[in-house]
Amino acid sequence: MENHGPETYGELNADVYDEWHPIDPTDAVRFLAGLIDEGPAGPVLELAVGTGRVTLPLAALGVDLHGIDASEAMVARMRAKPGGDRVPVTIGDMADVAPDSADRFALVFVVFSTFFFLMTQDEQVRCFENVAARLLPGGRFVLECPMPDLARYRDQRVETHQVGLEHVRLTAVRHDPVEQRLEGQHVLITEKGIRLAPAFLRYAWPSELDLMARLAGLTRVGRWGGWRQEPFRAEGTYVTVYEKPAAPTP
Ligand SMILES: C[S@@+](CC[C@H](N)C(=O)[O-])C[C@H]1O[C@@H](n2cnc3c(N)ncnc32)[C@H](O)[C@@H]1O
Repeated sequence: MENHGPETYGELNADVYDEWHPIDPTDAVRFLAGLIDEGPAGPVLELAVGTGRVTLPLAALGVDLHGIDASEAMVARMRAKPGGDRVPVTIGDMADVAPDSADRFALVFVVFSTFFFLMTQDEQVRCFENVAARLLPGGRFVLECPMPDLARYRDQRVETHQVGLEHVRLTAVRHDPVEQRLEGQHVLITEKGIRLAPAFLRYAWPSELDLMARLAGLTRVGRWGGWRQEPFRAEGTYVTVYEKPAAPTP
């Protein structure tokens, strides 16, 4: 992919992101707040904090939240929201996790399909390793991921999301099953012109995530079919919690 970097998605989606992805964060916030209450004391980090959809309501509960994101444009949207200027955010690659901070975190989380924005297996493994290195003993790493659905894509798919008298909004996706990549464009067509918003992902199977966790020294302690802890059913979006072992008692 020419000219594609960690910042590409955010820079080309920031102005439409909140409007095109109006996902209610209530259940995610409730689940994460519960984990924070029962885990070790310490700051919390969201990887790819974006426009603050989850981080802002969680920070409003009094959680000491930090963020990292590759896109200045996405973070500027968060900064413009109430409380958005109070969350410290590093601009950088989430595979590096928290490059400028000496903090150790009680919880690190990454939501929506965002972990898969790391475009190679090496980057995803590196992210797990860096998360593990930055977690406190007993700290947790929470990922929300979509279950890969090969029947949905095969080698390509076009979907129609909205049709109005003056616009149509589509997604067009190509699928590479060997590299486990989905290369997609949201396409808004109006009489004034065409607006493109790309999203390129490298998906991983739950078993592959578990192996990355194991390589990083983390243990899986929970997997559910959603933030309300529904049973895991290998479809839709699911939530996994990994834990760093507590320090051995002397
Ligand atoms: C789908 S949005 C999710 C934003 C927010 N977490 C939410 O749930 O609404 C993806 C975010 O990932 C960021 N991003 C993509 N690749 C990244 C990378 N390698 N490192 C850091 N941020 C990245 C984008 O800038 C964007 O803000």
